[in-house]
Amino acid sequence: MNMRGIHRATGLAAATILAVSGVAGCAKEDTSVTTDTGVKLIKAGALTTCTHLPYAPFQSKDTSGKVVGFDVALIDLVATKLSVTQEIVDTPFEGIKSGSDLNAGKCDVAAAGMTITDERKKVLDFADPYFDATQALAVVPGKEVKTLEELAGKRVGTQGGTTGEDYVKGQVAEKKLDITVVSYKDLAALQQALTTNQVDAAVNDLPVWNEYIKANPGKVAVATGFDTGEQYGFAVKKGNTELLKAINEALTAARSDGTYDKIYAEWIGEKPAS
Ligand code: ARG
Repeated sequence: MNMRGIHRATGLAAATILAVSGVAGCAKEDTSVTTDTGVKLIKAGALTTCTHLPYAPFQSKDTSGKVVGFDVALIDLVATKLSVTQEIVDTPFEGIKSGSDLNAGKCDVAAAGMTITDERKKVLDFADPYFDATQALAVVPGKEVKTLEELAGKRVGTQGGTTGEDYVKGQVAEKKLDITVVSYKDLAALQQALTTNQVDAAVNDLPVWNEYIKANPGKVAVATGFDTGEQYGFAVKKGNTELLKAINEALTAARSDGTYDKIYAEWIGEKPAS
């Protein structure tokens, strides 16, 4: 057996032990319920969503403190289909993308402007893609930057655990760039670091920069884009095929009856010509 085989086997054994002790050590009664549609939910009457705030226009608090956005509106359609209401849990992105929140029964679905990646597919089951995105490099207005290479000797901010951070780190390693990558815990911290000049540039998904610029004109500019060809997907716990099916059916219906386009226009704006 080669080294990788040994590692995998050891990892599996450890995971099994964890799962067993998890059940034994957990006195909490299983309160999950099954809807008429055969979908199992962690809490009666609710479709519980894990997300990581803020990530406008996909999820953020409005002035009254209510979580709203593109993802919220789409998951509301799933909740309606299941005759329940959506309840949103704000939690760090790491636990969402690693599958640990879903596995721990913290929520039924993850909706967090989350990109579908091969690595994440190993630990989550993704519904059909619902949004296309790329990465973008933002600066304070007046700075001209077209490539990461031009930022030699400078600091570039990223959001922890995201595909944007992976992209920057990948480029830095591959091209041996002399860039200091500074990781921030959420989008708000990253945006604040940029506008207060703690970093020279910041990378995140293009639609969130566009939204920030709409809300804060003149504070930030998109200097260049990186065509990473990403697609967002809602995710469920591995093996939760019933909920996955309900999500996909709601998405398909919304795309065919115009609801998706209406929600898109409301939260994102005009659709790029395809
Ligand atoms: N699309 C990026 C990714 O999946 C960023 C997502 C961050 N989302 C959030 N709600 N904080 O890595």
